[in-house]
Amino acid sequence: MAHSALFSPIRVRNLELANRIVIAPMCQYSAENGLMNDWHHIHLGQLAMSGAALLTIEASAVLPEGRITWGDVGLYDDATEAAMASTLESVRRWSDAGIGVQLSHAGRKASTELPWAGGHQIAPDHEHGWQTVAPSAIPFTHGTHAPVALDREGMIRIRDAFATAATRAARIGLDFVQIHAAHGYLLHQFLSPLSNQRTDEYGGSLENRMRFPLEVFDAVRAAFPADRNVTVRVSATDWVDGGWDIEQTVAFAKALEARGCDAIHVSTGGLHEAQKIAVGPSYQVPHARAVKQAVSIPVVAVGLITSPEQAEAIVATGDADMVAIARAVLYNPRWPWHAAAELGATVRPPKQYLRSQPSKHRHLFGVNGPVGATPTWVRDEDGAYR
Ligand SMILES: Cc1cc2nc3c(=O)[nH]c(=O)nc-3n(C[C@H](O)[C@H](O)[C@H](O)COP(=O)(O)O)c2cc1C
Repeated sequence: MAHSALFSPIRVRNLELANRIVIAPMCQYSAENGLMNDWHHIHLGQLAMSGAALLTIEASAVLPEGRITWGDVGLYDDATEAAMASTLESVRRWSDAGIGVQLSHAGRKASTELPWAGGHQIAPDHEHGWQTVAPSAIPFTHGTHAPVALDREGMIRIRDAFATAATRAARIGLDFVQIHAAHGYLLHQFLSPLSNQRTDEYGGSLENRMRFPLEVFDAVRAAFPADRNVTVRVSATDWVDGGWDIEQTVAFAKALEARGCDAIHVSTGGLHEAQKIAVGPSYQVPHARAVKQAVSIPVVAVGLITSPEQAEAIVATGDADMVAIARAVLYNPRWPWHAAAELGATVRPPKQYLRSQPSKHRHLFGVNGPVGATPTWVRDEDGAYR
């Protein structure tokens, strides 16, 4: 059996993972008043059977006004918690994947239309719109309705909402929470000098700009059980001169590590409309590598990682400890199985799918047949079942 770095186990705090594949958070814009519904059962159900060790539930707002769109999932009251618990209960019944949720507040990028309806900002006086908030009253795109600059009271409310959402996530049995500090949403807005022009102790120097995101981290870490993972997703650069960059990201990652963060997930961009990104395979991996060289906690790389060899190389060469896959796993929800087949590794399928093992990959479900399976489900050399 070939040795695969991608399919080697890793332990993150108390979480034992069989491979290094994470399904990245992906908004579905299909919730009703923040409530998950049968779409989320179907969507997360299929992804939980993908073979990836970890599944990240989409950006889930910690307050209603923190939603990107009016179709975003929330985790901000008893009803949204119950809806997520119900989805999780059915997914958990059939999958042992590690599952976590990305906790988010969209700040000035909130109150937008669903992407397939144009994705434009909705003004507060229009249906489905509301007043947005941000570190400073600077709109995301020129000419759109400006956010209101948060005062200290508003910041405390948001910090506490992150902590309460983490408590809800713990109560429904999630294995980890990921704090969304990337893609130009509220915490990234505090980090970047392009969106944070405050003159109080939360703006100006790097230390000041990191202060609120670190306060949120501390509140979430304190609210989530000590034996479970709190991770953070960052944008390592704004791709704009004078913006947030990799040096500041490294400083932020070190500060997070010192406070008990379990992993850093390294993405980029999303803060400024002037961003110029040279997009191509693995284009964000150099940023993950730079963070990995500075911290000892696991680092996750993401962004146009689409082939098994590419993912294998990222882990094998030490660019990152894990890879996250988003669009490729929507396109092919069994992406990790195919990667394991190509790399000579194994996955644990649900027992209902044991008969699907192709004869040319007869070790895919385990050297001596499927893990936990009865021999009757193993396929013969000639492809017949016995
Ligand atoms: C449909 C869709 C929804 C997304 N929603 C989120 C989200 O909720 N939170 C987030 O941090 N990133 C989100 N992203 C970004 C992905 O997590 C990922 O970083 C990005 O797609 C690049 O990875 P990929 O090349 O493997 O798709 C989304 C991407 C897609 C395609």
